[in-house]
Amino acid sequence: MAEGSAEGTAAGTAGGNEAPGGSPIGVGIDVGGTGIKVGKVDLDSGRVLGERIYVKTPSPSTPDAVAETIAGVLREMEWTGPVGIALPTVIHKGVAQIAYNIDESWIGTDVEELLSRHLPDNLALTLNDADAAGIAESYYGAAKGRKGLTLLLTLGTGIGSALLLDGRLVPNSELGHVLVRAFDESSIDETEHLAAPSLKEKNGWTLEEWAARIDSVLRQLEHILWPRLIVLGGGISEDSESWFPLLTNRTEVVAATRQNDAGMIGAAAYAAADGGIIDISSVFS
Ligand code: BGC
Repeated sequence: MAEGSAEGTAAGTAGGNEAPGGSPIGVGIDVGGTGIKVGKVDLDSGRVLGERIYVKTPSPSTPDAVAETIAGVLREMEWTGPVGIALPTVIHKGVAQIAYNIDESWIGTDVEELLSRHLPDNLALTLNDADAAGIAESYYGAAKGRKGLTLLLTLGTGIGSALLLDGRLVPNSELGHVLVRAFDESSIDETEHLAAPSLKEKNGWTLEEWAARIDSVLRQLEHILWPRLIVLGGGISEDSESWFPLLTNRTEVVAATRQNDAGMIGAAAYAAADGGIIDISSVFS
């Protein structure tokens, strides 16, 4: 059932807990509205090893269906080590609080209880998907060593956010749901309803038309938060040279270095840290 994607890089897919060079390996999972990505991660370099596994998100994407899909992939991989699961929800005090691109039965779910039923052999931890990307970019990537406030946005179906203060994650910021003025000032709406890249295809916008909208969102967010750095991730940032020059906001903007792998990488690091395999206390504890 697990189907390898073509995105893979060479080497390191062996069943063990160490990469060929001796680096510890972790497993990270990024649950999205349409697909679940699973990767083995070299925890020293913060890179996905070998092929990413991609399975369709079950429909409906209930907690039990998602957890059982993940359990099936881990069984196939014969992975019994720590696993981090990045989800498009806020987990507060062990309970999922919101559900935007996932079945609404997640709201109120006790994730520890869920995972102990479906993944009894793994140390399994969950966190917000954008926070996972924030951990990856702060520990390994574009925000590494950056002082002051960094605002990271994941641009995809929705808009996810991570706030990093002197490199440390301030969890569950959810700036995709902050109300801002529309680009043409005609209305007020959530940032992800105004400028998520998924709207580009839906509304037939050109890249320039979409860029004007994300620019407007960035200008309003920076006017409130005054970050020193903005890191933009998600698939559309792979093509950053074609639209970053169109941005007019005042803060330095860089592309996420781990792009669409950031959620998996950050989730893997988060779980491995909990298992005492690596120390990410400079970023999260
Ligand atoms: C969710 C966030 C998530 C983002 C990206 C938003 O709709 O509320 O939790 O990080 O989508 O998936």
